[in-house]
Amino acid sequence: MSENTANVIYLDNAATSWPKPPVVGEAMSHFLAQEAANPGRAGHRMAIAAEKMLDNVRKTLTEFIGGTDIHRMVFAMNGTDALNIAFKGFLRQGDHVITSTLEHNSVSRPLQAMADSGFIKLTRVDFSPQTGVIDPADVAAALTPHTRLIAITHASNVLGTIQPIRDIGRIARQHGTRFLVDAAQTIGVVPIHVVDDGIDFLAFPGHKSLLGPTGTGGLYISTTVDLDELKAFREGGTGGDSGSPTQPRLMPYFLEGGTPNTVGICGLGASTRYVAANNSAKTLQHERDLVQKFIDAATEIDQLTIYGPTGTHAADNRVGTVSFNLTSYSPQELGSILDDSFGIAVRPGLHCSPYAHKTLGTFPDGAVRVSPGHFSTSEQIDQLLAALREVG
Ligand code: ALA
Repeated sequence: MSENTANVIYLDNAATSWPKPPVVGEAMSHFLAQEAANPGRAGHRMAIAAEKMLDNVRKTLTEFIGGTDIHRMVFAMNGTDALNIAFKGFLRQGDHVITSTLEHNSVSRPLQAMADSGFIKLTRVDFSPQTGVIDPADVAAALTPHTRLIAITHASNVLGTIQPIRDIGRIARQHGTRFLVDAAQTIGVVPIHVVDDGIDFLAFPGHKSLLGPTGTGGLYISTTVDLDELKAFREGGTGGDSGSPTQPRLMPYFLEGGTPNTVGICGLGASTRYVAANNSAKTLQHERDLVQKFIDAATEIDQLTIYGPTGTHAADNRVGTVSFNLTSYSPQELGSILDDSFGIAVRPGLHCSPYAHKTLGTFPDGAVRVSPGHFSTSEQIDQLLAALREVG
C-alpha cells in the first residue's frame, strides 16, 4: 500500500475510498506510458489499444453488476454525472418521479430543479429514523398513473443503512415504472445484480468501494429500457459517423460525448478486477465489524448520540458508515478537532443529504460521519474512540 505521508487515520471512505490498491496506479502508469491515445478517433494501433482497454473495462463492469450488454455500460465522470445522464435523458414533460428523503443532492437537486420548472412532479418518501430504511409499501402508496421513474439510493450516505431495493424493484416492475438505483455507497461492497434486483438504471461512482480513481463512474441501462426513449444529455464528438449533424444513436457512444477519462477508466478496470477477486462479502463484514465496534463503545460515551440503528445488531444492515453527534460540539468543531489534534479524517456536516438530516432532526448543522473502508483497521477505531473519550 502507498505510504500515508500525511499520517492520517482515514475514516472518510464514504466520500472516496483511500488508499487505493497499488494495481490501480500501476495500470494507469502503464496505460499512460504505452497506450494513451484517443480511443475511437483514429485507426492507428495506439487508438485501437485504447479502445480495446475501454471495451475490456466495460465488460468487467457489466459482468460485475450482472448486466447482459456491454454496450449499455456508459462511462461517466462520477455518480452525479451518471444520474444526470439518466434523469435528463429519460424523463419527459409531465412525468411523476418517486424518490426518498435519504437521497444525496446528486439525486435530489436535478429532480428538484425539474420539479421547480414544472417539467416533472416529484414525491419524496420518508424513511424511519430508527431503522434508517424506506418502507416499500410507502413507495407503492406514492405511485400514480403518471409515475415513470422510482429513484432510490441503495444505501444512505449518512446512516449507511441498506435499502430494500429488490422489493422496490418488484413494485416498479408490477406497475410498469422504471427503477433507478444510486449505488454510490454500495457498488463494490454490497452485491448488486441488475436483473435479479429489477434495476433499469444503475448509476455509480468508480472511486468509492470499487476503489478506483476519482473522475470515474458509470450508468448501466438495462435491456428493459427502450433506447429510443433516451435523449443524449451530453452531445458532441463520439469518434464515429462524424458527418451526422446530430448525435449518432450508436450505444454507448450516444451517451458519451467527448474524449473519455481513459486513464481513470483504466484504473477503474484494475480496481474492479481487484475487488472482484477479493471477496466483497468479507470486506462488507470487515466494515460492519468496525462500525459495530464503534457503536458498541461510542454508546457508552456521555452526551454522544448515534443516528439510525443502535444496539448489538446496529451494523447488520449497514455499509461501513455511521453518523453521530457529541452535545458539547458542533459537527464542524468536532471534525476540526479530530483532524487538527488527532489526525483523524471524518466528514462533518450535512453530507450533501439535507432531507435525511431533516428527518433525523440534525438539520442544519448535520452530524459527524465515520466511514471505515476496505483497508481500515480495528486499531484506527480504537484511536477514534480514545479521541472522543478525551474530548467528550
Ligand atoms: N457523496 C460523497 C459523500 O457522501 C461525497 O461524502
